[in-house]
Amino acid sequence: MKKIAVIGSTNVDLITYVDRLPKEGETLEAPAFRIGRGGKGANQAVAIAKLGSNVVMLSKVGDDTFADTCIQNYQSYGIDTKYVIKVPHSSTGVAPIFVNTTTSQNSILIVKGANNFLKPEDIDRAEKTLKDVDLIVLQLEVPLETVYYAIDFANKHGIKVLLNPAPAVPSLSIDYACKCDFFIPNETELEILTGKPVSTIDEIKQASKVLLDKGLNNLIVTLGSQGSLWFSKDGIEKMIEPIKVDAVDSSGAGDAFIGCFSHFYCNTGDVEASMKKASVFAGLSVTEKGTQSSYPSIEQFDEFIAKHG
Ligand code: RIB
Ligand code: NA
Repeated sequence: MKKIAVIGSTNVDLITYVDRLPKEGETLEAPAFRIGRGGKGANQAVAIAKLGSNVVMLSKVGDDTFADTCIQNYQSYGIDTKYVIKVPHSSTGVAPIFVNTTTSQNSILIVKGANNFLKPEDIDRAEKTLKDVDLIVLQLEVPLETVYYAIDFANKHGIKVLLNPAPAVPSLSIDYACKCDFFIPNETELEILTGKPVSTIDEIKQASKVLLDKGLNNLIVTLGSQGSLWFSKDGIEKMIEPIKVDAVDSSGAGDAFIGCFSHFYCNTGDVEASMKKASVFAGLSVTEKGTQSSYPSIEQFDEFIAKHG
């Protein structure tokens, strides 16, 4: 199995299931609450580890009660935590998440806390380990300078690099996105990055073209229940259909897609097949509550593929 580094966030998800969000000044009872393990970086790392690749995580946690539980969580999946560092006098990142009980859609707030302290120096510190990985996976819940530094590091060492621009940062440098092998936004992130509408597949294609014209190598747009679209520099355009599921909770589904795609792409080099697997993995994650806790085991995943192809 290949070795993948995830450089990104660790959060604790504070998930409240709501019938609707309260208005300003209103106190509203909500039906349920749970604590989950989250952070886009962490979720992607866990998805990759569950599928069997070796994962090294670069991340920062605080010095609060959440910190050790986050590190233990990584270790329970066999993830290398040598570079998951505690920041004194800082809180671990948290994400209050609101899941609508009717639509199963989620709204997420992010308090970055210690994630803000993941710096280029941390990449230098891990150089010996990072130089040997087959793929570096990045998101945008840590400082942009760190993301850019990681992309330069990957390019310098000839390591493949994937950037999931989530959550969207409008000022993201598209030049840096072009230095990545894969750039994988969802449709909302595509809209924010291009300023173009994305309400139909045609509009999504037009917005994608704006980015592709700037020189991206591979752009994959994830479309939730509509599947995903892949465009390559050399003219490939492919739509991957989603699997049909009864959605319960979509939080962390994007990360499930990225993690699964990273694992299969890194181990096989086959983009289309990896997107199909990622669609299944993300689809299954939507059928269960929570983020990481909703990711299927490799047995459940293989069983589904064996039954449904
Ligand atoms: O993508 C889902 C994740 O976004 C959650 O786990 C939450 O922590 C936020 O980072
Ligand atoms: Na889920």
